Amino acid sequence: MINREQAQALDQADPLREFADRFVVTDPNLIYLDGNSLGRQPRTAAGLVTAAMDRWADELVGAWRSKWIDLPRQVGAALAPLVGADPADVMITDQTTVNLYKLAAAAMTARPERHDIITHAGNFPSDLYVLNSLAMTSGGALRAVEHDSIDGVGADAIGHAVDNHVALVSLSLVDFRSGSIADLPRITDIAHEAGALVLWDLSHSVGVIPTDLRAAGVDLAVGCTYKYLNGGPGAPAFLYVSPDLQAEIVQPIQGWFGHEDMFAFDPAYRPAADIRRFGVGTPPILSLIAAGAGIDVTVEAGVAAIREKSMALTSLQVDLFDDQLATRGFELATPRDPAKRGGHVSLSHPDAYRISRAMIEHGVIPDFRAPNVIRLGLSPLYTSFTHVWDASHRLATLMDEEAHTRIEGDRTGVS
Ligand SMILES: Cc1ncc(COP(=O)(O)O)c(C=O)c1O
Repeated sequence: MINREQAQALDQADPLREFADRFVVTDPNLIYLDGNSLGRQPRTAAGLVTAAMDRWADELVGAWRSKWIDLPRQVGAALAPLVGADPADVMITDQTTVNLYKLAAAAMTARPERHDIITHAGNFPSDLYVLNSLAMTSGGALRAVEHDSIDGVGADAIGHAVDNHVALVSLSLVDFRSGSIADLPRITDIAHEAGALVLWDLSHSVGVIPTDLRAAGVDLAVGCTYKYLNGGPGAPAFLYVSPDLQAEIVQPIQGWFGHEDMFAFDPAYRPAADIRRFGVGTPPILSLIAAGAGIDVTVEAGVAAIREKSMALTSLQVDLFDDQLATRGFELATPRDPAKRGGHVSLSHPDAYRISRAMIEHGVIPDFRAPNVIRLGLSPLYTSFTHVWDASHRLATLMDEEAHTRIEGDRTGVS
């Protein structure tokens, strides 16, 4: 049995423990385990956004002269080392769903003789919708390969499915439900050997798992900045395009921010030769500035150190599951091998929704994923080992008290 003092000792030895102070905490008794949905607010964010608001008030349209227009590339360049990319190959713009659409459509156009897309059925629904609509528009099909509900999608399953009808393989590196990690280098090689392009969704890995997109030869990638990067609600997403493809592939939303010379107001679209061609319209400056605050603190901590702590946090959570939760009706819905899981641990239970509401009433915020999964997002920059111990203890206690049986109502809205 792991006791609370052991968790406290892990905190004492944690080289990242000072980083918790870099985030705003208004209720010290609340244990926040949903940073994989919406990360906490970095302390610097409000000041930076307020300064930009003041600039807007004072300088009006002249504020654009402060190079706001370059922010999508500047903030993208700051994020680049987290995903093993060169600064010139990343941009922050639009939402993950929109970026996925732009890059997947560009990939389909680059393989005009092929019409199918491969993914797996457990991929994030927004990705499935986008990929399905693109495969249909192209006259092909979205092929969802077999996957295991805990271990996710295997490289062999992709290898068996991919053939010369497949233009694109698009997967998430970390499964949003189980937290399993896909074999990015191997799947990328398999897709390339079959002549397909690859597009990875890094939403649940960026900022918590180091990725080397350049070394793996990844063609395209997208991901959220509001989860482990703590960029703020609705923060714009990033996109990565391999330098070999930037001047070759053409994205479908041809707006003025993708033009080679946008202020020439040329009636004819001429795409920029570099990453700018994946821009569309005016960037959300205030949100980009907030996103930059979250990215900067992550880069400062270092993603290798973050991953090390993340594996220790999830290992503690799995040990606590064995100690305190397995006997209370929960099943572990995440791989046991720390190297094969990302930053969250999922528990399944037939009454997961009501239990997640009861946890919130007991000062622990997890999230619920229908039909029966509770995700515990252990964001390493501000989650301590003691938080993990206390949260499991509160959960075990509320189960013993049957507090969840007194919760009324059904699942509604964001949870
Ligand atoms: C894996 C994954 N992909 C895509 C999205 C959608 O992101 P957005 O709403 O910014 O388009 C999410 C949102 O949580 C996600 O988890």
